[in-house]
Amino acid sequence: MTPKIDAARLLARLDAFAAIGATPKGGVNRQALSPEDRQARALLAELAAARGFALRQDTACNLFARRAGTDANLPPLLIGSHLDSQPTGGRFDGALGVLAAFEVLEALDDAGVSTTRPVELVSWTNEEGSRFQPGALGSRAFAEGGLRPEWLQAQDAAGTTLEVGLRDTLAALPGVAVEQPGHPIAAYLELHIEQGPVLEQEGIAIGAVTGIQGTRWYDVTYRGAAAHAGTTPLAFRRDPMAAASLALAELFASIMPGDEDVRLTVGRIAASPGSINAVPAEVRFSVDLRHPTVRGLSAHEARLRAVLEDAARDHGCTVTVDPMMEMAPVAFPEDMVDLVEEGARLAGASHRRILSGAFHDATFIAGVAPSAMLFSPCRDGVSHNESEHVEPDDIVRAAEVLLSTCILWLK
Ligand code: GLV
Ligand code: MN
Ligand code: MN
Ligand code: MN
Repeated sequence: MTPKIDAARLLARLDAFAAIGATPKGGVNRQALSPEDRQARALLAELAAARGFALRQDTACNLFARRAGTDANLPPLLIGSHLDSQPTGGRFDGALGVLAAFEVLEALDDAGVSTTRPVELVSWTNEEGSRFQPGALGSRAFAEGGLRPEWLQAQDAAGTTLEVGLRDTLAALPGVAVEQPGHPIAAYLELHIEQGPVLEQEGIAIGAVTGIQGTRWYDVTYRGAAAHAGTTPLAFRRDPMAAASLALAELFASIMPGDEDVRLTVGRIAASPGSINAVPAEVRFSVDLRHPTVRGLSAHEARLRAVLEDAARDHGCTVTVDPMMEMAPVAFPEDMVDLVEEGARLAGASHRRILSGAFHDATFIAGVAPSAMLFSPCRDGVSHNESEHVEPDDIVRAAEVLLSTCILWLK
């Protein structure tokens, strides 16, 4: 029998997981290691156990479900993505890749296909990085063979440490043994939504991802002097808000308009003490900088630092720029990209090559095994937003291409 994607089953699964952490606007809030994330892991574990797939988890809370091959000594083909979400995230970012992978395992099983190698599903921990930094924590720990001690002390906005989040999440699946991250794998495939507009605009079903652009995150703090809002004349002010806003205006006016390949985002900003009638003592914000090349990242970082420091000087403030996270650009092996294209051809899906603007767990897994990604279109390219949407036909076609690509690789 030829394995087939069961469209109704896959779409129902996506609905069931979207209900976990559902937000009123149709998205999900299922942040890493939260009670909702635990509930999603538990549901996945329950579904896998019911199908007789072998479960394992590691100290980074990565969860695996393995369909056995005929040779248990061979490392598996690993397929999956992540179940955690942004605080106001969409239903498909991550979940599509995990649930399509589960559907692939079931389709192989339903058709009674026997494979030499095992096929293993993975749900990586904390891909998003919005609650705890760094992002792609689980896949990074898997690639490095363990968690770095300094990550464990990362705190979320409420002061909960990553260490406590991991501990409570592991305890929520008491029947599944916990191992050190990094068991051997033969290759890795990840399906994800594009999170950008290209495929939809061009009417193309599948993106064969050639690589992932690089990301650098910075924690920027301007420090000045708190002062009375009503009595302090300009000459007496050392206002970090004035410095920060001058710098940000200059950065937004120059960085992206000057280079179509760069992305600059300031998604978090806070003034403290945060009083209406006091000049703040401190203004702190995040910077997310992306570019396809290390050279580009470094050049823009140099410009960023210069602009931030000029503005500090202009306002009698100081500024510190602390690197928070770095992900180097990744190129997937040519034969793996070819494989995805061939998988699309076999499934009768139109396709094109595409570079990923978002980072993914494959960023790190590509360092330990031949890896590839495929993208599905999403409506208006919108993601990291509750209104994120993927057409059911596009979901099913992408799962079919994942299945055909897996079968090609397993041959
Ligand atoms: C991951 O979600 C990213 O920011 O690319
Ligand atoms: Mn994602
Ligand atoms: Mn995301
Ligand atoms: Mn991502």
